[in-house]
Amino acid sequence: MKDELIQHARQVLSDNDRGTYTVPTHGLYPFQWNWDSALSALGFAHFDEPRAWTEIETLMAHQWDDGMVPHIIFHQLDDGYFPGPEVWGTNRPVPTSGITQPPVAGFAVRRIHDRAFDKALAERHARELLPKIHEWHQWFYRCRDPQGTGLVALLHPWESGRDNSVDWDEAFERVPSEGVGSFTRRDTTHANPAHRPTNEQYKRYIWLVQKFRSLGWDNTLLHDASPFQVVDPGFNAILIRSCKDVADLAGRLGLTEIATQSRAMAEKGITAMESLWSDTLGQYQCYDRAAGNPVDSASIGGILAAFAPIPKARAAALTDRIETLAKACNYLVPSHDPTAPEFDGLRYWRGPVWLIVNYMIADGLERAGQSHMADRIRADSVQLIERSGFAEYHDPITAEPCGGAHFTWTAAMVIEIFSTCEVAA
Ligand code: GLC
Repeated sequence: MKDELIQHARQVLSDNDRGTYTVPTHGLYPFQWNWDSALSALGFAHFDEPRAWTEIETLMAHQWDDGMVPHIIFHQLDDGYFPGPEVWGTNRPVPTSGITQPPVAGFAVRRIHDRAFDKALAERHARELLPKIHEWHQWFYRCRDPQGTGLVALLHPWESGRDNSVDWDEAFERVPSEGVGSFTRRDTTHANPAHRPTNEQYKRYIWLVQKFRSLGWDNTLLHDASPFQVVDPGFNAILIRSCKDVADLAGRLGLTEIATQSRAMAEKGITAMESLWSDTLGQYQCYDRAAGNPVDSASIGGILAAFAPIPKARAAALTDRIETLAKACNYLVPSHDPTAPEFDGLRYWRGPVWLIVNYMIADGLERAGQSHMADRIRADSVQLIERSGFAEYHDPITAEPCGGAHFTWTAAMVIEIFSTCEVAA
């Protein structure tokens, strides 16, 4: 079974391979997405290291002059997706979106480098990529944390990678939905509308895009001008972990300045993360920077914090928290607490399980000595795929496959989990 699943996963990766980048899945997402690429590279690395490096090189080749790495790169025109390049209007040689996504590339580069068979190739790519990734990390702290708190804010829910999480609901109320003009969504022609965000949410997503576009995508202005500024523990954890991994690898490669600066950013971030801990929820929670209050929402963002080197006691508490969630579902880890009223087991980031998030949580818990829970999360991940295939996400109670099928990063995670851990299948 294990070999069959790995074979199938490799097939998914090659079907979605467009030569120098992969699409998340045919139809629904016809371009290159930022964190999809970084995580998918981990899967490629098990059978084609040069191809894994190319994936990340292609992503970083579209970095903006200010350091930002966009969330979508529109390599080829395709009117099956909305909002396309004409809505973003970023004026790039190859069109891109104007917002970013979780910066997991630093983590991926270190991991692929450290276990590479072709050491020389790995070192060459790491030397090429680390300075660019480091600039991206610096961009975050400069443009998304102008007050120097140690935590960066998201200015658009899509930046989080957890597009329609309950975490954004309250802050999103401050984003107008009037005056955006009419548009036609394309996602609901490829996937079941009940699995996707609502129309009201889409209007607000587009309002923010139009607002940022009216400011010429100038990142020195966007943070303060945005009615939506939310600090997400999961997103910050990914950034901190990547800074730490860049620091370690850069140190070993003799890139001393990058190493020192990255270590300082990671340490400041870890200290600041403590302010996001909620005793009531037993996990981390988001902070609404524009309103100045914590967000009372029991989402997976506060558990994904385990991906960063948080204190051991916090990791142990997160394991307890996941134990509690396990009592209310059959497959870990639901993207929202199944006992909360907003939970929706089929709707995108409001309940379903996502393998990439499982992978990062398990990795962090393992490092913190919580191997038992890490194993359980990985075992559930594999069971979901065995039962329901390589879907974009799955219902945590029924295992129903949701969203797009034949999904690249889901497949990459299956290869990664089987190749690096003992999981029964
Ligand atoms: C959805 C997800 C996002 C992902 C993208 C492509 O927008 O919410 O995290 O990057 O699809 O797979």
